Amino acid sequence: MVEKGVEIAPADGKLGILLVGLGAVSTTLVAGVEAIKRGISEPVGSLTQMGTIRLGKRTDDRVPKIKDFVPLASLDDIVFGAWDIFKENAFDAAMNAGVLDKDLLNQVSEQLASLKPMAAVFEQRYVKRLHGDNIKTGKNKMDLAEQLIEDIARFKSENGCSRLVMVWAASTEIYIEEAECHASLAALEKAMYDNDERIAPSMIYAYAAMKSGVPFANGAPNLTVDIPAMVELADQTNMPICGKDFKTGQTLMKTILAPGLKSRMIGLEGWYSTNILGNRDGEVLDDPENFKSKEVSKLSVLEHIFQPDVYPELYQDFSHVVRINYYPPRGDNKEGWDNIDIFGWLGYKMQIKIDFLCRDSILAAPLALDLALFMDLAARANMKGVQEWLSFYFKAPQTAPGLYPEHDLFIQLMKLKNTLRHMKGEELITHLGLEYYD
Ligand SMILES: NC(=O)c1ccc[n+]([C@@H]2O[C@H](COP(=O)([O-])OP(=O)(O)OC[C@H]3O[C@@H](n4cnc5c(N)ncnc54)[C@H](O)[C@@H]3O)[C@@H](O)[C@H]2O)c1
Repeated sequence: MVEKGVEIAPADGKLGILLVGLGAVSTTLVAGVEAIKRGISEPVGSLTQMGTIRLGKRTDDRVPKIKDFVPLASLDDIVFGAWDIFKENAFDAAMNAGVLDKDLLNQVSEQLASLKPMAAVFEQRYVKRLHGDNIKTGKNKMDLAEQLIEDIARFKSENGCSRLVMVWAASTEIYIEEAECHASLAALEKAMYDNDERIAPSMIYAYAAMKSGVPFANGAPNLTVDIPAMVELADQTNMPICGKDFKTGQTLMKTILAPGLKSRMIGLEGWYSTNILGNRDGEVLDDPENFKSKEVSKLSVLEHIFQPDVYPELYQDFSHVVRINYYPPRGDNKEGWDNIDIFGWLGYKMQIKIDFLCRDSILAAPLALDLALFMDLAARANMKGVQEWLSFYFKAPQTAPGLYPEHDLFIQLMKLKNTLRHMKGEELITHLGLEYYD
C-alpha cells in the first residue's frame, strides 16, 4: 500500500549546527565539512551524503541518493557554532586533538579559526579531569539555561540562520541515575532553580535548546534527554530528541557481528572487549565515574541482541566485559580488541578475535553530521519526541518507556530507510518479495 507521506517544510536558508564541545569529534566534523565543500575529500561514512535508498520493486531501478530523496540541508548552507570550557578556536583545538593532518587543516584554517567557542555551562563534579576557564557563572541552573537561550538567539540572528540543531559532542559526564527531579518538567524546572546537583550541564543545554525551538541529539552516554522531564519538554515544544552515545568503533563491530552469530544459532560463552585510547576523551573516561556512563552504554548491546531469555541454551549467562585504558601514545587512534568465545554444533568451542585499529573521531564525525541533518529534517516534518528511527547512530538508543531498544545495525538501517519512505509516501520495503514469483 502506498501511503500519502507527511508534509515536510523545505530546507530553505541556512542551518546552524550548534556543537556542545569543540573537541576531537566536533573539529573533525567542521574541518571535514569544509574540506568536502571544497572538493578536497569525499563524505565517506556519511549515510546522508553517500547512501542510496531503493524505492518500489527490485525491478523498478529507482535508487536515488538519500539526500536527493528527502529535503536535507545542503552542506553549503551549514554554519557551525560551539561552546567549550576552553577558549581556543576550532583550528587550535583541531591541532591539539591531532586527528587530521596539518596539511588538511591548513587548507581550511580560515573557517576553523573563525569558529570561537562560546562560554560553556560546566560543573566540575561531572567531568573531574578537565579544568577550563571559558565557563559561565549564574545565580542558579535556570539562570545558566537562560544565558544559553540568549547565546542561541544571538547566534541565529548574527549568522542569519533559518533553523538550528544542537548536538552534544562534549565530554562524557559522570554516571547518574534517573531521580524524582527528572520525573516531570515541573520537577526539573524546580530543581534547576534550586541548583540541584542531579541536574547535569548536558540537561541545561538540552533544556535551552528545546525552549529555543532547537532539536537536540546526544552523542555521549550521559542521561541528558533520556528522562521523562525532557520527553515532556520535547512534546510541549514540538521538538525531536535522540540519543545516546555515537555508535562508532567496537560497539559498531558488535552490532554487525552479533546479529550474524545469532541468526545462525551459534552459541556464546563470553565476549571480552578492551581498548587503548589516548585522546582527551580517553583521559576523561579514565575516571571511574565517567567510565561508568560509558560502560553501561556499551554493555547493554549484547544482552539485547542475543536475548538470553528467549534462547537460554545459547546465551544464558554469557560473560561480557568491557575495558577502556587511557594510553596517551595512541592519541585518537584507538585500538580495540575483542575475544569472542563461541560454540557450535554439539557444543564444540571456537574463538573469534578482532583487532580494530580505528580512528575514533574519523568514525564519529560523519555520524554527527547525519544526525544534525536528519534531526533538522525531523523538525521540518513535525516529528516530535524520541526519534527511534535514528537508533542506527547510537550505542544505547533511546526508546519509548517499556520498549527495549533495537541494537541490530541492519534492523536499525531498515527502520531508518522505511521511515524516510514513510515520510515521502513511498511503499515500505518488507523484503517479502513473493510478487517476483507470481
Ligand atoms: N569519537 C568517538 O568515536 C565517540 C563515540 C561515542 C561517543 N563519543 C563521545 O563524544 C564526546 C566527544 O568526544 P571527543 O573525542 O570529541 O572528546 P574531546 O575530549 O576531544 O572533546 C570534548 C570537548 O568537550 C568539552 N566540554 C566538556 N564539558 C563541556 C561542557 N559542559 N560544555 C561545553 N564543552 C564541554 C571539552 O573541553 C572538550 O573540548 C565524548 O563524550 C565521547 O565519549 C565519541
